[in-house]
Amino acid sequence: MKGVDIHGNNAGNEIVEVFDTTLRDGEQTPGISFTNEQKRTIARQLDKLGVDIIEAGYPISSRDEMEMVKLICDEGLSAKICGLARVLTQDIDACIDCDVDLIHIFVPSSKIQRDHTTKMSEESVKEQTYAMTKYVKDHGFLCMFSAMDATRTRQDFLVDLFKTAEEAGADILNVPDTVGVSEPFSIFTLVDEIYHAVNVPISIHCHNDFGLAVANSLAAVKAGASEVQVAVNGLGERAGNADLVETVMSLNAIYKLKTNIKTEYLFETAKLIERFSGVQIPITKPIVGENAFSHESGIHAHGVIEKSDTFEPGIMTPEMVGHRRRIVLGKHTGRHSIEKKLSEIGMSPPKEQLDEILERVKALSVSGKKVTDDDLFTIAEVVTGEVARHERVVTLKELSVMTGNNLIPTASLKAVVRGKECTSAQMGVGPVDAALKAVQEIIGDEIGGDIELKDFRIEAITGGSNALAEVIVGVKKGDRVVTARGARDDIVMASVEAYINALNRLLQR
Ligand code: KIV
Ligand code: ZN
Repeated sequence: MKGVDIHGNNAGNEIVEVFDTTLRDGEQTPGISFTNEQKRTIARQLDKLGVDIIEAGYPISSRDEMEMVKLICDEGLSAKICGLARVLTQDIDACIDCDVDLIHIFVPSSKIQRDHTTKMSEESVKEQTYAMTKYVKDHGFLCMFSAMDATRTRQDFLVDLFKTAEEAGADILNVPDTVGVSEPFSIFTLVDEIYHAVNVPISIHCHNDFGLAVANSLAAVKAGASEVQVAVNGLGERAGNADLVETVMSLNAIYKLKTNIKTEYLFETAKLIERFSGVQIPITKPIVGENAFSHESGIHAHGVIEKSDTFEPGIMTPEMVGHRRRIVLGKHTGRHSIEKKLSEIGMSPPKEQLDEILERVKALSVSGKKVTDDDLFTIAEVVTGEVARHERVVTLKELSVMTGNNLIPTASLKAVVRGKECTSAQMGVGPVDAALKAVQEIIGDEIGGDIELKDFRIEAITGGSNALAEVIVGVKKGDRVVTARGARDDIVMASVEAYINALNRLLQR
């Protein structure tokens, strides 16, 4: 039992092992360094997630790294703990001192790396591989052997080298695409050849230089690899390693292969690494990105509200990965999304109001504002609290204000009052004062007599200088007091809207 035959009978392992290298290759991401406490938290999280092997570090690299690997070994986790070592006794001894479960030895095998780094001949690479694999095994440890830069190594030599490691007792052979130059067909052919040449399990370690690390890992599994080496959020040298979440979910949902991963913890794991690494997950990142299960456009949101599989893969749901589905409000929003969100808080406005709410949500979004649910609810409250369009005495048409430190604030306003267009320009102590005075002038004859502004409050609904502003006004005429609201991203507009809403109520017959 060494590989996974997904073509028909499952002749090999049913479970694909997940080898996580977030703490080793992941930490080699330029600019990333986890604290020791963060590393322990990450190891616990990976264990909770169900990874089979945690590559905890490269013990020989520093005293601190060695201490850290030891601490992780002492955590008593279910996952096997692996330490990395060159094919050198001092490196292997450092892993032995940490008491890891598995020692991962590697040696450059391609000509370019041998010529320019180790200066070792193919023959000496083989000899050293044999000797060091045996050394690990003689000390009673599990041994993984990696031929570094395997995908740029002369193929006959590579196969020979893997056979040498097998002969010396290696438990698993790893095929690193060290500089990420493979593509799925070439990696399939290579792993297929190795798979048929040896009799131990094969692991695949792909880098993402061309964005193909996940696809290449899947192709390798198809060719017989039974272990994938991955990192959370695809961290790793240069463009990173194959992403754990994407690889696992593809194996699980598309290939129908099992892993020991508890997929419901994938999202929280990705978020933990995002926080600790400081590398933000792009909103469009598959599976764990903010938008992975978000829908805005009318057609999509409508479909998803009816049946989520219409515009989602279906074979993977947000619940499966611990994420959530969101209906996002924006300029592409349709009526169904608004209706659904409002129905969740018990509001079911009639069609005319729904159209008005939709129009305002779109306008707010076009102005560059991210429209939140709170914005929607405030808009809906304002619109549903307004006097019905056909009963309105006053409808605002245009408003412009001028203000500044060397200007007297002035507002010009055009409105339709009982079907007749009226204009007014007024000055005030500030732009809101000027605008409200202009409204008063227009409406004066209609209202007949003094109106008093009793209450005036402004609230920002969501943060930021472009927040939706809600204005609440109380207006008194005689013994009648009415309260009304306005909600716009422009404070002056919101004030005028609230004021006109109040006047319409006062004038309502
Ligand atoms: O990319 C690589 O070749 C490695 C080896 C140490 C396996 O990370
Ligand atoms: Zn690597």
